[in-house]
Amino acid sequence: MQVVILAAGQGKRMRSVLPKVLQPIAGRPMLEHVIAAAQTLDADRTCVVYGHGGDAVRARLQHAEVAWALQEPQLGTGHAVQQALPHLGEDGMALVLYGDVPLIGAPTLRRLRDAAGSGRLALLTVELPDPTGYGRILRDAAGKVVRIVEEKDASADERRVREVNTGILVAPIARLRDWLGRLGNDNAQREYYLTDIIGMAVGEGIDIVTVAPDAVWETLGVNSKPQLAELERIHQRNIAARLMDEGVTLLDPARIDVRGEIVCGRDVEIDVNCVFEGRVEIADDVRIGANCVVRNARLGAGTRLAPFSHVEDTTTGRDCVIGPYARTRPGTTLGDGVHLGNFVEVKNSAIADGSKANHLAYIGDADIGARVNVGAGTITCNYDGANKYRTTIEDDVFIGSDSQLVAPVRIGRGATLGAGTTLTKDAPAGELTVSRARQISIPGWKRPVKK
Ligand code: UD1
Ligand code: CA
Repeated sequence: MQVVILAAGQGKRMRSVLPKVLQPIAGRPMLEHVIAAAQTLDADRTCVVYGHGGDAVRARLQHAEVAWALQEPQLGTGHAVQQALPHLGEDGMALVLYGDVPLIGAPTLRRLRDAAGSGRLALLTVELPDPTGYGRILRDAAGKVVRIVEEKDASADERRVREVNTGILVAPIARLRDWLGRLGNDNAQREYYLTDIIGMAVGEGIDIVTVAPDAVWETLGVNSKPQLAELERIHQRNIAARLMDEGVTLLDPARIDVRGEIVCGRDVEIDVNCVFEGRVEIADDVRIGANCVVRNARLGAGTRLAPFSHVEDTTTGRDCVIGPYARTRPGTTLGDGVHLGNFVEVKNSAIADGSKANHLAYIGDADIGARVNVGAGTITCNYDGANKYRTTIEDDVFIGSDSQLVAPVRIGRGATLGAGTTLTKDAPAGELTVSRARQISIPGWKRPVKK
């Protein structure tokens, strides 16, 4: 099987600088979804037909294993497929897909491929309550497909037909070459219609078979932002349904967004309005509060993200408690039972088992041992304006509130830092280190009075 993906259309109605097929569904370009669907069929070759201004398309998808065919100018869908022919093999079957029909599913495509076999023409068609705008499937009295007529070329009677062409089809490549070479553009749009090959195939006695998709939404195309949003919701609803099938509790399946891969263990509970990006692995019994954003993270069993937490490139151990309003940035590794409370930011730091920073702290470029208590308002001063330095805090340290740890600096095992300390030298293990000025009181002092 070889695949042609048509992606040359301009997408004017998007009113965007970004080419239409790069507009995202679940954070990935629509075209990438289509290429992924094609790949599930083990296609020998996939050729993307791209258009004027398509450098951005090629650049964005340069990692994809596809051939590129430029279609310039764009003279219709038949002309578009013709541009791909030099990139396809001599024979076998070709599947035509569309870069702006992103939700097409692999099971539907497999059925279409199987229906086509090794020599038939298979069309993916759907019955729509309102077929306006689509090419209509015309059948003879015996129910055999005889041709497709475009809306703009159709008679009033033909327009009443509700079975429409999705555009997706499978055809024998050798015949396709011949048919496309004979296409004319004598029609209402002065375009070379791919759909005209159906009439030619019928003329040659080639069997035309039709297949319906598993779901109509698989065949929906995107021409505007409202349509993009509609397909995004359908896609997210499908992901939510899969997660629930796997046993995840979603407080509201309509309010979750997964823009990447999410893998969940048993008895995971996710509250409303959470966004998951990149690869996210969630172990058993994890609970995620409302309005969290989780990107490229592994959350250990029993961990709880309280609402409004933002977790990125982070790994946690078991039973951590994060948030509300906590932020972990890239390079955060937490052991078991670590607590990060409200307005605590952690970056490029490892925090070992049982340590806590419960309120208002910045921990950057630090290695923190086990059972450490980081007081409210503690800040690692990791950056001198030019370079970054590490802070090391050994096991069982207690850091008083409002301390500044000026890196590079080390706090020895079991040390205590008095509140308000500005630590510029290492603090010895087991001792109290305080850097604040001694407190004094002035007896008999009077407040000034107004003259
Ligand atoms: C096409 C079909 C119609 C079908 C409908 C489904 C034809 C002649 N008509 O109509 O039967 O019901 O799709 O949506 O095929 N494209 C190119 N190069 C071109 C023209 C189009 O790459 O020169 C791409 C577009 O980017 C788009 C797709 O082909 O992804 C369909 O093109 P469009 O012009 O939207 O076709 P329709 O008129 O909607
Ligand atoms: Ca269209």
